[in-house]
Amino acid sequence: MQAPKSVWMVPALILTAFVLLGNVERIAGATAQEAPEPGFRWKDGAEVYAKVCAFCHEAKVGPTIRGRGLAPAYITFIVRHGNRAMPSFRAAEIEDESLAKVAEYVSKAAANQ
Ligand code: HEC
Repeated sequence: MQAPKSVWMVPALILTAFVLLGNVERIAGATAQEAPEPGFRWKDGAEVYAKVCAFCHEAKVGPTIRGRGLAPAYITFIVRHGNRAMPSFRAAEIEDESLAKVAEYVSKAAANQ
């Protein structure tokens, strides 16, 4: 007797999930190198931007985000939740206080600063 097709869907989906997760890790790996130690605090918003965001946003991987007067609440939301090609960052990577600082910095900084 042949197993119903749906039985094979489960391992196939699990495999797909692993492949996708592997790629996400690889992409995020670029920033994971900067993953802070426990208790680590970013100095200020400019430092977070320079060490994390600039990796993509100054390399034309992501759009220009400085000098556009983007609302801090919008920036914070995108960083925590991600959006399409923009990865999300957890509090273990950028804690709330530093996220507020980088959002404020990106919102107010000029594009070429
Ligand atoms: C791994 C690359 C990468 C990193 C690191 C990264 N971003 Fe992004 N970001 C993107 C990409 C790509 C997009 C465009 C997403 C899309 O529309 O598909 C984006 C979009 C955004 C947007 C929306 C811009 C718009 O035009 O509405 C904001 C805000 C943003 N990123 C903020 C940040 C901040 C702040 C950081 C640092 C904490 C950061 N990003 C780090 C890749 C990155």
